[in-house]
Amino acid sequence: MEIKRIGVIGAGQMGNGIAHVMALAGYEVVLNDISEEALSAAVSLVSKNLDRQVSKDRISEDEKQAAMNRISTTLKLPELGATDLVIEAATERETVKQAIFEDLVPHLQPHTILTSNTSSISITRLASRTDRPEKFMGFHFMNPVPVMQLVELIRGIATNEETYKACLGVVESLGKSAASAEDFPAFIVNRILIPMINEAVYTLYEGVGSVKSIDTSMKLGANHPMGPLELADFIGLDTCLAIMNVLHDGLADTKYRPCPLLVKYVEAGWLGRKTQRGFYDYRGETPVPTR
Ligand code: CAA
Repeated sequence: MEIKRIGVIGAGQMGNGIAHVMALAGYEVVLNDISEEALSAAVSLVSKNLDRQVSKDRISEDEKQAAMNRISTTLKLPELGATDLVIEAATERETVKQAIFEDLVPHLQPHTILTSNTSSISITRLASRTDRPEKFMGFHFMNPVPVMQLVELIRGIATNEETYKACLGVVESLGKSAASAEDFPAFIVNRILIPMINEAVYTLYEGVGSVKSIDTSMKLGANHPMGPLELADFIGLDTCLAIMNVLHDGLADTKYRPCPLLVKYVEAGWLGRKTQRGFYDYRGETPVPTR
């Protein structure tokens, strides 16, 4: 099946990155959000991030303009009805996602593939609330979307081969690579990455190392581009905690218990870069460790 028009729900960090890479690859993109401010902020950010690529001679100014022209925005979910593929990247709360699918499904064409960029919610459960579980799957991008090479493709129990192949074709057309994951809590990347981050928070909590020594150890000792605490701030501490809770509840194993210090930071509203404070304080010129 041919995919030409793509609907993206949610204009936040992930949604704007998804709109960026899809438009640059030649797809018509309809970006939806409930807030006009979020939509205009997302379009400006896509323009700014495309400018980075122009300034590095990765793309031409004309390619940037063509990509921008392929992005339209709407506050009305039913306008996504005419797309061939929908990628939902709204708030990571199951009730929010279910309400979106409920509103959207009656407007979709029969052939439209429905996907979610969820980082940990069950694809099978989300799919079961729609009219098309066989045409539903997980389409999980990594942050920052324009830079990261991987997309996890997660099949729910009912996802058919045609849907998987169509999504794989889209990933390849972006010049990215896909990893196929089965639908178990947090899939592959977050099943491995988030417990590592949680362990880094335990290492801090137990006084084994400071924020700086933990991050330096993993950057220089394991060649990670960011230390685990810096990465936690980048992902969002609320997201990290939510994923640990999904692992803890879904696998019922105490090895996934969230570190109390991670809980405390989230309770304080210190969620990382997005609130300007997490394991680092970003309010000054350079980030300063908060412990
Ligand atoms: N759009 C376009 N380009 C971008 C960009 C964006 N949003 N952000 C960064 N870039 C580009 C820069 O222009 C730069 O390009 P060149 O290589 O051409 O110079 C390149 O990316 C590197 O950026 P910087 O030089 O600014 O910074 P850096 O070298 O420190 O790299 C980073 C930044 C790519 C984020 C790097 O630190 C990194 O890879 N960190 C780890 C990221 C990671 O692990 N992401 C996964 C998180 S987990 C997840 O997403 C799953 C989940 O569900 C929670």
